[in-house]
Amino acid sequence: MTALPATDQAIARAAQALARGGTVAFPTETVYGLGANALDASAVARVFAAKDRPRFNPLIVHVPDIATAERYATFDATARKLAEAFWPGPLSLVAPKRPDSGIADLVTAGLDTIALRAPDHPIAQKLLAATGLPLAAPSANRSGRVSPTTAAHVETELGDLPAMILDGGPCERGIESTVVRVTGDSPVLLRLGAVPREAIEAVLGSPLPLVQDGTEIASPGQLERHYAPSTPLRLDAADVREGEALLAFGPNVPEGARGTINLSASGDLQEAATNLFASLRALDACGAGTIAVMPIPDQGLGEAINDRLRRAAKAR
Ligand code: TXA
Ligand code: MG
Repeated sequence: MTALPATDQAIARAAQALARGGTVAFPTETVYGLGANALDASAVARVFAAKDRPRFNPLIVHVPDIATAERYATFDATARKLAEAFWPGPLSLVAPKRPDSGIADLVTAGLDTIALRAPDHPIAQKLLAATGLPLAAPSANRSGRVSPTTAAHVETELGDLPAMILDGGPCERGIESTVVRVTGDSPVLLRLGAVPREAIEAVLGSPLPLVQDGTEIASPGQLERHYAPSTPLRLDAADVREGEALLAFGPNVPEGARGTINLSASGDLQEAATNLFASLRALDACGAGTIAVMPIPDQGLGEAINDRLRRAAKAR
């Protein structure tokens, strides 16, 4: 499937494909998603098959707004406060699923919670309005691989599998949504992402602890091999070694790499996040034995960038 420009006509056709149980790849502000009607178990099964995704890893359901989210989940005061502060936007909230939600069990991997978010992207919002359906949409990549931030990346990852790919240009945020569990006890950060932890803590007025990897299967997707290019990564690199490509950050870049991409010459973390996945793909294709990665400050969005890089480096 080649990607189509996301005109109103293409969006209307995409909505029809979704209503018939097809899958559609569409842009969000974070990364491209592979969407299906979350109420239709066989449509959702097509998403798992296209991605080769393990069935224990639940999907995020996309909705236009808070009122729609509350049809599918019970929001307590904390959930509502976070949704009001960050929606539409790159924050996914894991809340108790309503027993009468109608959401296919496969979406939530049989859990009694559901992850919901309202995307801040005009094409995603138009698609939600055109379907009137909740759309289950994981990132539109093969399981374990780098998330797509352009329609061309989706073509590379999924080929003919989606019924349609809507092209809305490159994604502005560049890394996936932050996932926070709000199920009654104090909120827990399940996945670092495009909303920095500090911004959520400022709204909560309290620290937001990160779930510990491996100690809890609370966010099943976090246990997988993830965000991985085929070339091995060497993190916190201060120099470049023979045959290496370089993923640089900031103004002082060592010479001698086989190929260099600077995530942000000015050291801007949002710019670095936006460029991260496309840069990993490009360096992966340049034939280097290793990709050396310069250190990135571990604050604000840097925390999520470093999380993705560590998982990519650990993958082999
Ligand atoms: O930015 C994003 O969130 C993108 C775009 C397309 O919206 N979507 C995305 O979906 O990254 P995916 O499927 O690649 O990641 C979903 C994450 C996984 O880590 C999954 O384990 C977690 O959300 N998750 C989903 N439902 C959950 C639940 N009920 N409890 C705990 N974690 C859940
Ligand atoms: Mg993903």
